[in-house]
Amino acid sequence: MITKKQFQKIYIESIQNPEKFWADVAETSIEWFKKWDKVFEWKFPSYKWFVGGKLNVAYNCLDRHVKAGLREKTALIYLNENNDRITINYNNLLKQVNKFANGLKSLGVKKGDRVLIYMPLVIEQVVAMLACARIGAIHSVVFAGFSANALRERAEDLKAKVVITASWTMRRGEKKILKSTVREAVKNLEFVKNIIVLNRDKKEINSAEKMEIDFYDLLNNESEICEPEIMNSEDPLFVLYTSGSTGKPKGVVHTAGGFLVYAHYTLKTVFDIKPDDVFWCTADPGWITGHSYVTYGPLSNGLTVVIMEGVPDYPKPDNWYRIIEQEKVNIFYTSPTAIRMFRKYGEGYCKQHDLSSLKILGTVGEPINPEVWKWYHEFIGNKKCPIVDTWWQTETGGHMIVTLPGLLEKPGVAGLPFYGIEAVVVNKSGQEVPTNEKGFLVIKKPWPGALLDCWNTPDRFAKYWNEIGKMFFTGDFAIKDKDGYIQILGRSDDVINVSGHRIGTAEVENALVSFAGVVEAGVISKPDELKGERLKAFLVLKSGVKGDNALISNIKKHVKTKIATIAVPDEIEFVLSLPKTRSGKIMRRVLKAKELGQSISDLTTLED
Ligand code: WTA
Repeated sequence: MITKKQFQKIYIESIQNPEKFWADVAETSIEWFKKWDKVFEWKFPSYKWFVGGKLNVAYNCLDRHVKAGLREKTALIYLNENNDRITINYNNLLKQVNKFANGLKSLGVKKGDRVLIYMPLVIEQVVAMLACARIGAIHSVVFAGFSANALRERAEDLKAKVVITASWTMRRGEKKILKSTVREAVKNLEFVKNIIVLNRDKKEINSAEKMEIDFYDLLNNESEICEPEIMNSEDPLFVLYTSGSTGKPKGVVHTAGGFLVYAHYTLKTVFDIKPDDVFWCTADPGWITGHSYVTYGPLSNGLTVVIMEGVPDYPKPDNWYRIIEQEKVNIFYTSPTAIRMFRKYGEGYCKQHDLSSLKILGTVGEPINPEVWKWYHEFIGNKKCPIVDTWWQTETGGHMIVTLPGLLEKPGVAGLPFYGIEAVVVNKSGQEVPTNEKGFLVIKKPWPGALLDCWNTPDRFAKYWNEIGKMFFTGDFAIKDKDGYIQILGRSDDVINVSGHRIGTAEVENALVSFAGVVEAGVISKPDELKGERLKAFLVLKSGVKGDNALISNIKKHVKTKIATIAVPDEIEFVLSLPKTRSGKIMRRVLKAKELGQSISDLTTLED
């Protein structure tokens, strides 16, 4: 817990001398094989952190804890819908990671090679990520809900050498097959040399496909010792694809040094962690939160981490409360969507469980409605747990705007810029707007967790810094109040946030127009009580095509195979034409204003 005075003192120091601040943090957070020569280098728009520094991320998440005497400490607790429970301690996790890392090497995977991970949230997924980190291979985790088509696009963009998957994942009592999706995705991609399959019940390898290897066949043959690759601070650690305003997702690149320092330090500070805390972040490593706060942040801090394969309310709506009670979870970090779902089921379910182990609650991914915040505070936190509302993005690597535990909480308002972060609310030309006025949220200078690049598309990286006054453009609308607290109002661009997952309208439109019979598509978001936002598509059909329910259902299926279930519009309306600019761009704002019964000027005040 921190007082306002303490916070302000550290914040001011961090802004006055960021290089000293981050050097101190990097020195105390991470074990470096070689110290950096220069803390920060900025050749606009590119920047580097801890230049000349050498480290290994897996070493920092595992070896150093084992060396410090935490061999027996539980690193991961895996749970699932059937309430199976598997734990692994730091020493055994290190051994598994080393064996798997050696296995990857035996397949010819080297530093800088790209490895796709398309797995459920199981211990082996974390092993796969850390094994890549150990040998310097760049991993790219793809959420296991994405389609073969989406997976193929990412494999192609990265020229991935290996894909790691599992036979299936379990969701609401049903097995979802993953292996066949991967086979379809990599068909005839000559650069993909191997598919590694975690066979979960019986070993099933397609012998016709020589490229397939069983996860444990590979791992079990290998030595428990694997020297960590000495990585430069600015070497890429992973690429994670996220939606932007064009039709193609962008590969956000994060570094070994800057990212790890930032994930480690934000986790430690924001959740005010103590060494024996049991930490549960409900995200999946398919998203950034699962990188920073399921894997790298908590493990580099030597915590015990809960992971769960499954959904919040299956087999029963009290599933997650039961886990909190059973594992004595101290820090619980989830999304407003999940909390809204719990609230809908009612507080009766939380009252059936002893949630008294909880000390701090967190939320991320979308703005949280004040009444939902209050419910979280009262019924899950029993009015005694601070709630840290954390605003950040795939691109930022870690928390950026947050109410640290101990500071004044304003339900629905994310909070104050974190140490070292200068966040301001500006107009299109980069001037700060007056207090309590809506504007664009920008960050003035790079911070260690900032993305290094966009894979294969440096112009997309540069765009973040060139859009508004050479500051990092977040894409969000925000308001700053008289105390400097920042409230996030949602995206200002063509990105939609469904259940906390980022989806680009253009991506969905591309999928829609690739359906035979659809000529044009315009996609907008509408407020949704549970999901935050939901998608509505307006479609122009080829003449002669009948817009009936069967067509709607086929179009929805098509989007699912093109992208993922999360990208499927809830509503589809057929129209004769779409509103367009003179240059032919679809005016989604006009569609949205009409749909929501607002005047168009409400939506355009900040536009040119
Ligand atoms: C939104 C997720 C309000 C925001 C970590 C941002 C939030 C986008 C919050 C990034 C929050 C995230 N309050 N909105 N606490 N956290 N967002 O890249 O619109 O999946 O731009 O990263 O989520 O989503 P992403």
